[in-house]
Amino acid sequence: MAGIRIRALSPTEQPPMHLLLLADPSEELVLSYLHKSRIFVAEKAGTIVGVLVLQPQGQQAEIMNIAVAEQQQGQGIGRLLLKHAIMQASKQKIKQLVVCTGNSSLPALSLYQGCGFSVVSIDEGYFLRAYPEPIFENGLPCTDRIKLRLEL
Ligand SMILES: CC(C)(COP(=O)(O)OP(=O)(O)OC[C@H]1O[C@@H](n2cnc3c(N)ncnc32)[C@H](O)[C@@H]1OP(=O)(O)O)[C@@H](O)C(=O)NCCC(=O)NCCS
Repeated sequence: MAGIRIRALSPTEQPPMHLLLLADPSEELVLSYLHKSRIFVAEKAGTIVGVLVLQPQGQQAEIMNIAVAEQQQGQGIGRLLLKHAIMQASKQKIKQLVVCTGNSSLPALSLYQGCGFSVVSIDEGYFLRAYPEPIFENGLPCTDRIKLRLEL
């Protein structure tokens, strides 16, 4: 995609917290996984407009967070980030990629399945138990956690 560069965030750079919070409303939770993850960013004209966080766990890796700046969504940046993470995981001999999302995260559910992920389980009521405040997205209550997997 013209004008978009995907790269790894260097350890000296600050992670783009404003973007990470679009995918996960808990800064505490975000901070709990950032230090053990690889962070990829999408850059446009020198500005970070997207982020993906990948946490290796043996032969598996989990996508902990993916987000694109609101005004840049719908232009293919999320798909570029996800394809890049899939390619990087393949190079590192990772066998499976997993990702968890909410029942109300309709763009994310569509993005993952469009890139070959399949639903493997549903944790009913997870978000009601895990977060103190109710979460609403796309006009829907976010209640259940959906796990998807891609075999590499
Ligand atoms: C999910 C997200 C990262 C997608 O990024 P994006 O750059 O907007 O997505 P893309 O433009 O690359 O679109 C790729 C695919 O995603 C899906 N998608 C994107 N926007 C969508 C929308 N509004 N409704 C439904 N599907 C959508 C489609 O399958 C699309 O493929 P298509 O263009 O062939 O239809 C972005 O919407 C986002 O940052 N959302 C907020 C954070 C979030 O919810 N993260 C996921 C938490 S698990």
